[in-house]
Amino acid sequence: MDKNELKSPGSELVTPEEIYLSRRTVLHGLGFLGAQTLLSRAHAEKYLVQDPERPITKEELATGYNNFYEFSLDKKEVKEIASRWKRPAKWKIKISGLVKKPMEIDLESFLKTVTLEERVYRFRCVEAWSMVLPWTGFPLAKLVEHAEPLAGAKYVKFLTHVDDKQMPNIKKMGYYPWPYTEGLTLAEAKHPLSFLATGIYKKPLPNQNGAPIRLVVPWKYGFKSIKSIDAIEFTSEQPKSLWESLASEEYGFYANVNPDVSHPRWSQARETRIDGSFFPKKIATLKFNGYEKEVQSLYQGLDLKKNY
Ligand code: MTE
Repeated sequence: MDKNELKSPGSELVTPEEIYLSRRTVLHGLGFLGAQTLLSRAHAEKYLVQDPERPITKEELATGYNNFYEFSLDKKEVKEIASRWKRPAKWKIKISGLVKKPMEIDLESFLKTVTLEERVYRFRCVEAWSMVLPWTGFPLAKLVEHAEPLAGAKYVKFLTHVDDKQMPNIKKMGYYPWPYTEGLTLAEAKHPLSFLATGIYKKPLPNQNGAPIRLVVPWKYGFKSIKSIDAIEFTSEQPKSLWESLASEEYGFYANVNPDVSHPRWSQARETRIDGSFFPKKIATLKFNGYEKEVQSLYQGLDLKKNY
């Protein structure tokens, strides 16, 4: 079996016992135990990357080297500024557009209705660096189901919370079309790999990683994984992301990881593994970031070379 493949349930290779057994601790840590049901072990294991070339990234690297433009363009500065962000006491997510009934979801209450699970996903930034991250959360499909999209809904648009008093870069870069916006097709949103994360490293998401809830779409470049989501809209038209509005030829709607299609300014064939070393290792980028088998059926008939 290709060493980059996800392990199937019951596989002989290292059971992530520690991850599984500590799930209770995680959920306690996240304050979500109670109404929560724990996911079956076999199901959860399906989504854990086990690849000697891609070990789990050290926590201090993943939480100290961030892209969150609302706070700063300096990856190492984001943590410090974002940690001062006082989020609204009750986090709401507005659901609008082509749904049976527009609504506002209270995140804390909604989390009591879902099963939290842990997923270890490859994470590949368009800037050609990568990490492997242990997320806690639930499938995006659960929220889509709850929203009850109408037949005309073909896309899902996501928006990041805006607070220009506490997110200093929003004013500094007033020429950016804030809020940070991203989109998926409805089929992509319903795919079992599409994930809404509320935790990382068995702890609640820190602000710099997109607290309290962010998207994780592991087969796409990292900019699609929008942080701190407070609004979701179901649309019939393809939504335009912030990056697409700024430079559509560099940051397209699909943005599927593809080593064969270069970014207009650099090759995407290889990626720098963020491992904290002075000379970090460069490794080959995998098509769809290693999730080709799982997601290729979503793109039948689409010219992936044209759909950067
Ligand atoms: N979401 C918001 N709201 N603002 C951002 O600047 N950056 C994106 C994505 N989501 C970004 C965002 C990019 S470019 C990447 S690579 C990832 O978040 C980085 O996530 P991380 O900091 O948790 O590694």
